[in-house]
Amino acid sequence: MTRLIRVLGAGIVGLAVAEELLRRGRRVEVVDPTPGSGASHAAAGMLSPAGELWHGEAAVHTVGRASAALWPAYAHRLGVPLHTGGTLLAAADHGDLQLLDRQVALIRAAGDRIVELGRRELLADEPRLGRIVGGALLPQDHSVDPRAVVGALLTRVPVLATPSGETAAVTVVAAGATLPAPYSRLVRGVRGEILRLRVAAGDLPERTLRAWVHGEQVYVVPRAAVGGHGEVVIGATQDERGGAPVPSVEGVWRLLDAARRLLPGLDRAELVEATARDRPGTRDNLPLVGPTHDPAVVLAAGHFRHGVLLAPLTARLIADHLDHGRLEPTLDPRRLLPVPVPVPDLSEGTR
Ligand code: GLY
Repeated sequence: MTRLIRVLGAGIVGLAVAEELLRRGRRVEVVDPTPGSGASHAAAGMLSPAGELWHGEAAVHTVGRASAALWPAYAHRLGVPLHTGGTLLAAADHGDLQLLDRQVALIRAAGDRIVELGRRELLADEPRLGRIVGGALLPQDHSVDPRAVVGALLTRVPVLATPSGETAAVTVVAAGATLPAPYSRLVRGVRGEILRLRVAAGDLPERTLRAWVHGEQVYVVPRAAVGGHGEVVIGATQDERGGAPVPSVEGVWRLLDAARRLLPGLDRAELVEATARDRPGTRDNLPLVGPTHDPAVVLAAGHFRHGVLLAPLTARLIADHLDHGRLEPTLDPRRLLPVPVPVPDLSEGTR
């Protein structure tokens, strides 16, 4: 019998890895008592390497772009629609415009396409916008519904609530914000709160919006209208508080306040969900994809704000590593793992 590969975690990353391994003929067991219920359940699904670009994070952007390029074929294969309308950046006042200008300069320096838009051009493109002073279009930043992706993967990948008794040759740890020992300290939970609204088709924006609204950052991701209504996902707060991940009054209020100033028509929407989950953050904001010092353990973890975007690339990298020993040096988990100290051999003959 071929060697068993056990994947711990059935979020979007663990499922994508398992599906790729199954496609390559591996024998795989995925273990998770509550599949798809972690950060993947909250995620808005922006495939947005440019919009998420941040100072000092060129490597995050590089891997993000590589994975974004895989998404059209990946979504097609899974039978999940990809929203390819691009992303609008918008600023509500002149202070916000300074922040937006910084982002535009970063994106331009990274070599991504960006089209700056004045107030009138922005309103012509998206007449549902409220008071804004300027913005830009990112034509290549798309989105996908992560719950639909997880659903599609779950039709291909069976998941066990607890491990079978069989010893696995390799364990792939894809357990989100709570990694098992001895890897638990590599990842910390970074709380994010997110809202889902049911919106009449006429109030649904055409593109994803990413805005600065009087100093508050907010994004609004539309999902197609079915039967006269669509959905928007409004996100996301980001802070590092402990305790159970439950939405706070402050977080919900901040998101709603910014979103309804950006799109006043959202006042007519129905608030259907407020969700909080912990993103798996690492010390350098880069994921941990590849080997550990233990030849029987591989990590597919620490994807922070980019789990959905990076799922297809992670799946490919892990499968290539297990097939051919391929390494992606920037993501190699050993960069953050202490080098094991050799234990001296104190047995009789060597004294
Ligand atoms: N990827 C967006 C977020 O984590 O909020």
